[in-house]
Amino acid sequence: MTLYIPDDIVAEIKHTADIVDIVSESVRLKKTGRNYVGLCPFHSEKTPSFTVSADKQIFHCFGCGEGGDVFRFVMKHQGLDFTEAVVTLARRYGVRLPSEGNRSPKDKTMSERQQLRSVNSLAMDFFKSHLREGPGSEKAARYLAGRGISSDVIEEFHLGYAPAGWDNLAGFLAKKGVPLGFAEKAGLVVKKNSGTGYYDRFRDRIIFPIMDISNRVIGFGGRVLDDSLPKYLNSPETPLYHKGRSLYGLSVTKNICRQSGEVFITEGYMDFLALYGSGIKNVVATLGTALTVGHVRALKGFVEKAILVFDSDEAGMKAARRSIDVFNSEKGLSLFILVLPKGHDPDSYVREKGTSAFKELAATAQEPVFFLLESAIRNYGLSVDGKIKTVSEVAEYLAAVEDSVARSLYVKEVAERLGIEERAMLEKVRLAAARQSQQARRRPGGVFEVGGEDNGPDDDVDEVARAYSIEYRMELQIIAMMLHVPEMICEIEEKNVLDFFTNDFLKSIGNIIVTHRAGLENRSADIVELVDNDAGKRIITALFVGDELSNWTEEGCRNLINRFMTSRARRSDNLTQMIKAAEENHDDRLLDELLKAKGAIARQNRMMSAKSSSEL
Ligand code: UTP
Ligand code: MN
Repeated sequence: MTLYIPDDIVAEIKHTADIVDIVSESVRLKKTGRNYVGLCPFHSEKTPSFTVSADKQIFHCFGCGEGGDVFRFVMKHQGLDFTEAVVTLARRYGVRLPSEGNRSPKDKTMSERQQLRSVNSLAMDFFKSHLREGPGSEKAARYLAGRGISSDVIEEFHLGYAPAGWDNLAGFLAKKGVPLGFAEKAGLVVKKNSGTGYYDRFRDRIIFPIMDISNRVIGFGGRVLDDSLPKYLNSPETPLYHKGRSLYGLSVTKNICRQSGEVFITEGYMDFLALYGSGIKNVVATLGTALTVGHVRALKGFVEKAILVFDSDEAGMKAARRSIDVFNSEKGLSLFILVLPKGHDPDSYVREKGTSAFKELAATAQEPVFFLLESAIRNYGLSVDGKIKTVSEVAEYLAAVEDSVARSLYVKEVAERLGIEERAMLEKVRLAAARQSQQARRRPGGVFEVGGEDNGPDDDVDEVARAYSIEYRMELQIIAMMLHVPEMICEIEEKNVLDFFTNDFLKSIGNIIVTHRAGLENRSADIVELVDNDAGKRIITALFVGDELSNWTEEGCRNLINRFMTSRARRSDNLTQMIKAAEENHDDRLLDELLKAKGAIARQNRMMSAKSSSEL
């Protein structure tokens, strides 16, 4: 927490605020049974999967997995940190907050963030005014005009100019009473190596202010006006600016992105401004860094499709491949890749060929699998050896495609392109899927799935994957049971059920519930707060809201526990078969995993039989 707000006041706000009220201000909710549903504000959808529980005072989206209490909703929806969300709700409900004087001395970050914002905003005004007049302003304006940037775009994106000289901004800020140590923290000035004092970071550069989602300035980029180096300079990481999360332009284009459902992602300021200026306004830019999961998350609330635009050089191809991995690890957005003709970037292309030519080209953007396929073919050629390499690269990607219809269509097309049998390709994909599910089982972030009915038998899913997914679902149900029927927690504890969980992440959630069971009898959302990571919070809110999981009878509960315990014992037989198959296929990696699992289960079985014989 940042600004110190006493826990009892936070609790008061929480009890006063009504999540249905708050959500209704931005989402049209309809009552269905115990809950309310509507279209999720955090991802694009056509059928409502965003659910709000008035009893539990929590929300959960079955589409994108977002969920939490009223604070979480306000934070996420308005782009605020926790304290800011508390303050917002306090105002809304007339809860009095402690005055400034009551701030805890160690928690001064909130005021620091505010101060950094106002220093940034002073600096932005300074840069803007120096583009209008003063030494160098004409040169700077000429440069921008020469690059085809209109005065409208200059206004809308608050472009500016940092004059030449070492201490123009430093002097200006000092005169405004800003301590320069603070300006340093904002990344605007740099401490001199020798002696004392500070000098301006940005000198004789065009300035591009970088905004947060609420259009508040959090950092700057600066471009030279000639060929000197470095061409671009960006703010360092500050308490406000994190390059792995910031997307240039999103605060302006977010509504257009939401309307169109898709966004172009470019790599530079100029590329962004050129596309925007030419009328292609659903665009953002990553700045001086490769695409990150943070970027993808930032976009998820606005679009369902992202088109990454890359130059065709080696660096561009590499960035494209890396971005595919990033998108794969953070599902929920479909990805297309647009490679520009040699020698072009989006800026040069749209200026030279025009808006409609760019749009035509954009229509040829490729899905990742075809991009990977073609670039593997380019790399390895179509010899037998080349095809083998290509197949295993593409199979690795296809194994992670969840939609089985899409996957089988891809398999068909890839097989055709390479002139191989579809079955052979499918086999490769299955093996890759088995390996991946083994790995995913141990990775907490990747295991979340609940509430979907579409998890029935799927002939493309490997036996191993299915076994673990049944296990996972059962463990998930046990957690749900603990939440909905706290009386069962005692029995869970006595039988050491949690010890037999295969999923460590769910096990840790289970243990938290056991420890804090008293809190469960009061208010559900308190448990949500005790889990200190987002994936865990999402799982708990999902289980709370899930209607199908909440008709518990005592008999049903006992049944679940027994089914789980016996399935754990039986699993070892299946494993033996799987191990045999892996040996025959010479799949050493899979074999290794299976043997490890077998060892663990044997240990657990010994414990279980020791327990049951001691009970007799
Ligand atoms: P490019 O070198 O492709 O430049 O860098 P550009 O965007 O085409 O710029 P113009 O057209 O020459 O003005 C792409 C992006 O990488 C970051 C910047 O965000 C830039 O927009 N970059 C590049 C840096 O951060 N530092 C650099 O020195 C160069
Ligand atoms: Mn360029």
